[in-house]
Amino acid sequence: MREPITNIMDLRELARQRVPRAFFEYADRGSYEETTLRENRAAFGRLQLRQRVMENVDERSLATEIVGQSVSMPLAIAPTGLTGLQHGSGEIHGARAAVKAGIPFCLSTMSICSIEQVHAATDSPFWFQIYVMRDRGFTRELIQRAVAAKCSALMLTADLTVQGQRHREIKNGLSVPPKITLRNLFDIASKPRWAWDVLRAPSRSFGNLEGRIGGADSLTTLAQWIASQFDPTLSWHDLGWIRELWPGKLIIKGIMDAGDARLAAEHGVDAIVVSNHGGRQLDGAPATIDVLADIVDAVAGSTEVLFDSGITSGQDLLKALALGARAGLIGKAFLYGLGAGGEAGVTQAIEIIRRELSVSMALTGQRDARHIDPAVIWRR
Ligand code: GLV
Repeated sequence: MREPITNIMDLRELARQRVPRAFFEYADRGSYEETTLRENRAAFGRLQLRQRVMENVDERSLATEIVGQSVSMPLAIAPTGLTGLQHGSGEIHGARAAVKAGIPFCLSTMSICSIEQVHAATDSPFWFQIYVMRDRGFTRELIQRAVAAKCSALMLTADLTVQGQRHREIKNGLSVPPKITLRNLFDIASKPRWAWDVLRAPSRSFGNLEGRIGGADSLTTLAQWIASQFDPTLSWHDLGWIRELWPGKLIIKGIMDAGDARLAAEHGVDAIVVSNHGGRQLDGAPATIDVLADIVDAVAGSTEVLFDSGITSGQDLLKALALGARAGLIGKAFLYGLGAGGEAGVTQAIEIIRRELSVSMALTGQRDARHIDPAVIWRR
């Protein structure tokens, strides 16, 4: 009998066994030498927490607000591409688990289930992440579809106008929709549960792009498609255009520099996400947790600061809160839960992080996740 799941790395191991290699590694790995991917984790490991005692921590509150939305804890699900190929209907499972947990779910432009499919399958608003395409008419349409689906925030990803190479995507011959080849035949055949769920799902290719952009379905590698479609001219001037199309909360993701953070705040975004794209873009960038405090100082409360890249425990999340983040986003931890067990696996991932955060708050003498004392980070 299998040992019980007790942490996010257990979910990762189960996902590794259940999801075909090309898709598991798409979620799990990073760009080039993966130095930033490793650094995201290592930097969390270097930070230590200050243990406090005799504080009466019986009544603790994890609830907070993210871009004006009440949430049960300072956590959101990050937008991730190809989610519906970690588990059939993966975006719907993720959105439902998030609603039940009282946290936001962000759907990616590069999702498998479309905006409309997720909207039809859920009864609470979700966030939508946008990549700006060379075809601005199509970009406009995507934003209008998010408005029509009553999405509650738009997240503009700024750090992927050109893609950092992920060697594993090329070596694995990653293709969307999945293709059975001699190389992956045994792998797919040994994962019948995955195949069954993917076959039953409403979509197996990029749901938001279908029929809109020639070639999406015959895509051989994700990278080729991105290179031809994503718009590298994207600049601060475009924010005005996006603002005209999008009346709601606007979040910009991929900020790693204090100057960029100030510019984002000056352009009136409602929140920034301090993120290096989970170590999937600029290899050699520092860990997000190492740049967070400077960015929080730079914006000085003029916009909300959210955080992602590397969170795999409640202790990690507590460190990010102590360094000034309003909330953290999980990408990999979410996908491990999803690959391991669909909606129930996502719920498990969220609840693991919730319990770890709550216990770590107690052991550091904290009662309110909205006001984590910076002194929680131990300094010599
Ligand atoms: C997409 O956002 C990716 O990182 O592959």
